[in-house]
Amino acid sequence: MKTVVKYLYGFRDWIDARFPLTKQWNEHLAKYYAPKNFNFWYFFGSLALVVLVIQIVTGIWLTMNYKPAADLAFASVEYIMRDVEWGWWIRYMHSTGSSAFFIVIYLHMYRGMLYGSYKQPRELLWVFGMFIYLLLMAEAFFGYLLPWGQMSYWGAQVIISLFAAVPVVGDELALWIRGDFVVSDVTLNRFFAFHVIALPLLICGLVVAHILALHEVGSNNPDGVEIKNNKGADGIPLDGIPFHPYYTVKDIVATVVFLIIFAAVVFFAPEMGGYFLEHANFVPADPLKTPDHIAPVWYFTPFYAILRAVPNQLGGVVAMGMATTLFFFLPWLDRSPVKSIRYRGWKYKTALAAFTVSFLVLGWLGMQASTVTYTWMSRFFATVYFLFFLLMPYYTSTDNDKIVPDRVNYP
Ligand code: HEM
Repeated sequence: MKTVVKYLYGFRDWIDARFPLTKQWNEHLAKYYAPKNFNFWYFFGSLALVVLVIQIVTGIWLTMNYKPAADLAFASVEYIMRDVEWGWWIRYMHSTGSSAFFIVIYLHMYRGMLYGSYKQPRELLWVFGMFIYLLLMAEAFFGYLLPWGQMSYWGAQVIISLFAAVPVVGDELALWIRGDFVVSDVTLNRFFAFHVIALPLLICGLVVAHILALHEVGSNNPDGVEIKNNKGADGIPLDGIPFHPYYTVKDIVATVVFLIIFAAVVFFAPEMGGYFLEHANFVPADPLKTPDHIAPVWYFTPFYAILRAVPNQLGGVVAMGMATTLFFFLPWLDRSPVKSIRYRGWKYKTALAAFTVSFLVLGWLGMQASTVTYTWMSRFFATVYFLFFLLMPYYTSTDNDKIVPDRVNYP
């Protein structure tokens, strides 16, 4: 045994002489000091990594039997579901994974808003995160066309035709995106290329940049206290603990709990009543028959409700674009000297509560067929949504924030 261990250490030293293995391990895990007061909200970054891996692995296996051609795509998905061994399992993991990704990411971003994690010095970390979020939306949109069901087809048709609202070049732009006068085989082929290689590559690259930026500045925490401001004689933050083994163990527990819930959905409710896999998508795409009610998957519905709330099509597109991109500016819109909600005044708390309610209600409204009442409700909640951002410099700079303690609170 001793000899085996000796050889293993020898092998490690051989690698270390040629590649910074131990150095990286220490820098990012064993000697990366994270605040000791992380709570439930701090699980979602690691869970996002877990889902990213699930999506990539199941995606690779799906690609082995999927056919990116308009006359074969739908049938190839059915073939995966019925004839490929464990094909149904891989496909349901991938479809459930996309909804899981957005649940995890929305909670991950919301944590940033609760604890002011986007504030100085973490602005770039947040901006990288926002680019990941936008790419993730594009990734989900491209992927949704691939099964070539009715909703895949008409969803893509609706979204691409939005580009036609751009003045002067609109029609040409929509044509350029589709590669044809209607959504067709050409469109499917290019969406496939983007979905399986271009965007995953970009997302993975940005995730690396995201984590490097995080480790450069260090993690924030539920108190919003910078632990680097209180170091011991050894230069180690007094409120920090090594990420490994403390948080690796904690994250493994979170991952196990997550996988249990994930498996329950995959095995017992993969369609989730039409929320994760829409019913209309079990019917092959028919370019001659528009479905009665076109609605995107739940994670896009808040933005879809905003799009429909504006009477003018171009205005709707601009409003929808703003609704997704305003988050980029949070680090500069928020003028409060306090990071965490624990020490903020009533104004930010009220604004965040109003934003949360408006996001959820808009999400619900985006799933409904539009009626006059729902359109007016969408207008009201879209206004609340935008005011949260636009009034932020005012209410965060005049809030009655509390005194932030010097050290983190840990019971
Ligand atoms: C594939 C997507 C993503 C992955 C894999 C990922 C991964 C991570 C990980 C592992 C952490 C450290 C653990 C934690 O604090 O939870 C983290 C922190 C952070 N992430 Fe992400 N992230 C992703 C997307 C995003 C997005 C979309 C945003 C926001 C727009 C974002 C903003 C942040 C911020 C601000 C932190 C620091 C939080 C703090 O220290 O309080 N991330 N991310």
